[in-house]
Amino acid sequence: MDFRHVEADLSKTLVTEEELHAKLDELARQIEDDYEGLDLLLVGVLRGAVMVMADLSRALNRHIEMDWMAVSSYGSGTVSSGVVRILKDLDTDLTGRHVLIVEDIIDSGLTLSWLKGNLESRGAASVEICTMLRKPDALKVEVDVKYCGFDIPNEFVIGYGLDYAEQYRNLRGIGVLAPHVYE
Ligand code: XMP
Ligand code: MG
Repeated sequence: MDFRHVEADLSKTLVTEEELHAKLDELARQIEDDYEGLDLLLVGVLRGAVMVMADLSRALNRHIEMDWMAVSSYGSGTVSSGVVRILKDLDTDLTGRHVLIVEDIIDSGLTLSWLKGNLESRGAASVEICTMLRKPDALKVEVDVKYCGFDIPNEFVIGYGLDYAEQYRNLRGIGVLAPHVYE
C-alpha cells in the first residue's frame, strides 16, 4: 500500500484511494446532471485541491474549464482568522459564468465562505462549492456546500493534496497524522 514509507507517521488511514475515487465518480454524476446544458468553470484552490481537481475533472464526462486561485488566511499558525489574502488570482472573467469551487477540506469554513462571496461579487451566474472533506465539528460559519465527499472527525489529516509542513501531499489516500510527528 502506498502508505508504507510513512506508516509510522500515521495513526490511521481515514479514506482509501479506492473510496476517494468511488466518491468522486458519484459526485461527478451529480455535477453532470446539475449543470446539464450550462458552461462550467472549475476553480481550484491551491495547493491542497490539486489532487481533487485532477481526479474530479477527469471523472466528468463533459466539457469544463479550469482556473486556479491561491489564498492565505491571516492568523496565527493553524488558526484561521477569516481574513483572506489573494496570493494568486483567477485569469478568467467570471461575468455570467457558472463557477464550482473545488476544495480539499473545509475546516472552520471561514476561507470558503469568504471566497464564495468574493467570486459572487464578480458577477458570476452561480457559485457553488465541492469539497472532498469537511470537519463538521470545526465549523465556525455556515457554508453552503453543494457537493461534499466525506464528513470527518476534527483531527489533522494529510494526504491526497493535504500537507503537514508541505509533506505528505502525494499520499494516495487520506490519513490522520500521528501526534508524535508534530508534538
Ligand atoms: P478553514 O478556513 O475552513 O480553512 O478553516 C481550511 C484550510 O485549512 C487547512 N486545513 C488543513 N490542512 N489538514 C491539512 O493538511 C487538515 O486537517 C486541515 N484542516 C484545515 C487547509 O489548507 C484548508 O484549505
Ligand atoms: Mg487548502
